[in-house]
Amino acid sequence: MKIADIQKLMNEMSLEEKVGQMVQIPANMLTDGGLITGPTDSIEMNEETVSLVGSILGKTGAADLRKIQNDFMEKHPHHIPLLLMHDVINGLETIFPIPLAQGCTFSPELVEAASRASAKEAAAAGVHVTFSPMLDLVRDARWGRVMESTGEDPWLNGELGRAMVRGYQGDNDLLKEGNIAGCVKHFAGYGAPEGGRDYDNVELSERTFREDYLPAYQAAVEEGCVMVMTSFNSLNRIPSSGNQWLMRKILREEMGFDGVLISDYSAVDEMINHGIAEDSRAAAKLAILAGVDIDMVSNAYVKYLAELVRQGEVEERLIDEAVFRILKLKNDLGLFENPYKDGSVEKEAALFCCEEHRSLARKFAAASFVLIKNDEILPLQKEATETIAFIGPFVDNKELYGSWSFPQKPDNTVTIMAGAKQKKAEMLYAPGCYIQDRGKCNRYGQKQEYDDAEEARILAEAIDLAKKADKLVLCLGEPRDYTGEGGSKASIKLPENQFQLLKTLQQINPNIVTVLFSGRPLEVQEITELSKAVLMVWMPGTEGGNAVADILFGDAVPEGRLSMSLPRSVGQLPIYYNKFRTGRPNGPGNAVGFINGYIDEYTTPLYPFGYGLTYTDFTYSEVTLSKKEMTKDDRILASVQVTNAGGCTATETVQLYMQDVKGSVIRPIRSLKGAKKITLAPEETGEVTFEITEEMLRFYDINMNFVSEPGLFNVFIGHDSDTQNMAEFLLV
Ligand code: GLC
Repeated sequence: MKIADIQKLMNEMSLEEKVGQMVQIPANMLTDGGLITGPTDSIEMNEETVSLVGSILGKTGAADLRKIQNDFMEKHPHHIPLLLMHDVINGLETIFPIPLAQGCTFSPELVEAASRASAKEAAAAGVHVTFSPMLDLVRDARWGRVMESTGEDPWLNGELGRAMVRGYQGDNDLLKEGNIAGCVKHFAGYGAPEGGRDYDNVELSERTFREDYLPAYQAAVEEGCVMVMTSFNSLNRIPSSGNQWLMRKILREEMGFDGVLISDYSAVDEMINHGIAEDSRAAAKLAILAGVDIDMVSNAYVKYLAELVRQGEVEERLIDEAVFRILKLKNDLGLFENPYKDGSVEKEAALFCCEEHRSLARKFAAASFVLIKNDEILPLQKEATETIAFIGPFVDNKELYGSWSFPQKPDNTVTIMAGAKQKKAEMLYAPGCYIQDRGKCNRYGQKQEYDDAEEARILAEAIDLAKKADKLVLCLGEPRDYTGEGGSKASIKLPENQFQLLKTLQQINPNIVTVLFSGRPLEVQEITELSKAVLMVWMPGTEGGNAVADILFGDAVPEGRLSMSLPRSVGQLPIYYNKFRTGRPNGPGNAVGFINGYIDEYTTPLYPFGYGLTYTDFTYSEVTLSKKEMTKDDRILASVQVTNAGGCTATETVQLYMQDVKGSVIRPIRSLKGAKKITLAPEETGEVTFEITEEMLRFYDINMNFVSEPGLFNVFIGHDSDTQNMAEFLLV
């Protein structure tokens, strides 16, 4: 359809029909008429208003979606197709590692490839839009949705967010087969709620917001992401869905976003709960004035928007702008000519969990694992001479797909048990304990049923194996639904019953490799003290068992690097590497004597951002700079020689950090500005060079101008954010 035809269509639409395009409901309201229940109690809609909606969410499947689309368009007065949206966060049928783990690969290439595969599967399943990438910066592991982020660094989140948009949208030609629309979320600052409590208030200075939290969303918009989703939180006391500064000034005017802005689920009506709207009608007015185009599942637009226009409180112009953007997106996807786009049962059968996608998922998962300790126990031997016992509630667990994967297909999963058996026919197994600790609930309020006799039996079984085996692989971790939306926790420890299993078995057999599953950074100090090796595998997805076995038995070499600092204790949160100096500089240890820090804890994390071991050692030369002074229109090349000093080929993630030594405002002790991977054979040396430009040195100065300031800069290039391998230059 030509753009002019969109305007022509709009001219033929009634106000109610236009408002209908701005309403999104769950798919089940079209299929079984199910009333929506959720944060806003229910949505009072009738046959007519349901028949006018512009989009639905939460259903996949080519056959079902084709029928829904077909029946809907037949009834619609202008036969306008629905936008079909879904949360394809880390895969649809083939599940890839959770985004937090994807961040640990530091690999835009792998992230783009996985997003591409996810898009092809989603498109085949009839999906037009995914509610991804999620680019909320997170510095607090208590927040349940940390699993859905790529971590604590603005630059890395931006690079991986760009890769996801490229994966979903291809070259931004949404007509092309396999391309789906991306939707960057949650705009904005959702990852910084007070206390790590989901949905809580977010207080950020404008400087911190612009410098740390905004860049990743901006990167996705620059990459062409065609939708943005508002966040549940209030930002400096104004809920995002009614925040005109955030949506009209920052997003539309400054970032130049001209796509579709959708609210999060019931977020418009939730402004009543926030206390800035006395009722749904007032919430509708706040949202449309802020420029929200689509109201996801709330009463506001469907019940009051037309009335607000008719009563002169809202200009119809605002409705027309929103509806034009929505119809343009449908047109960009080609839905007026082909309302089913790529939905095809045959394509689903060909693509779902196909060998190519499984192989990518296996490689991606292995690259996302972070080896944080290895006292020469890994890799394990495949030879029968060594008896290995796999113990723990994650050994035979199929739910390795994280908390944002729908529909869940556990039977697609390769378990740790299955993966290990591929490597070693003879292996012993015992679950050892239940997965959830006694009496504790997950984010749904579900508790583990405990049978004391069974608990004692499986523990005794594990103890027996610990006595027999040469080595133990303990597969422990947080249950899948201890993280995700609504999964904030005050404790970030391993479930107590699992920790007790580790302690008990360690006293019998100290040759322990702990494989740790989680959706967040955990307190791992005691776990590392009780293990000879610890491998953080997060939630590895469909091919998790094969990937873990590949790493444990040396068929793949660890290369993951922490995308978030691992704290010593929850009391240190929020903790992040790019922190600021203070007037009372602290040392690495406890702080006594009136300096910054704690009297009862270190200030440093247990393991820093960017850290990770492998099966070899890499050494670095000093940093060499192409010059010692740089003018603003100049550039400097910074290089290191990296040598593989160990016995196996491995991949190193070389990281570039910069420090502005003095500014008109205080500056972070360092910021990640680049990362490059290099694969080296034993004894091989390679050069890695980064280009330093003036743009990389800019920040919001004392007057909130985004500029660089002349002066001394330190350049760090090394293995992680703790590297002291440094050179300096002057910006003149
Ligand atoms: C949820 C989430 C959002 C998701 C949306 C649709 O509440 O906050 O990330 O995309 O609703 O499921």
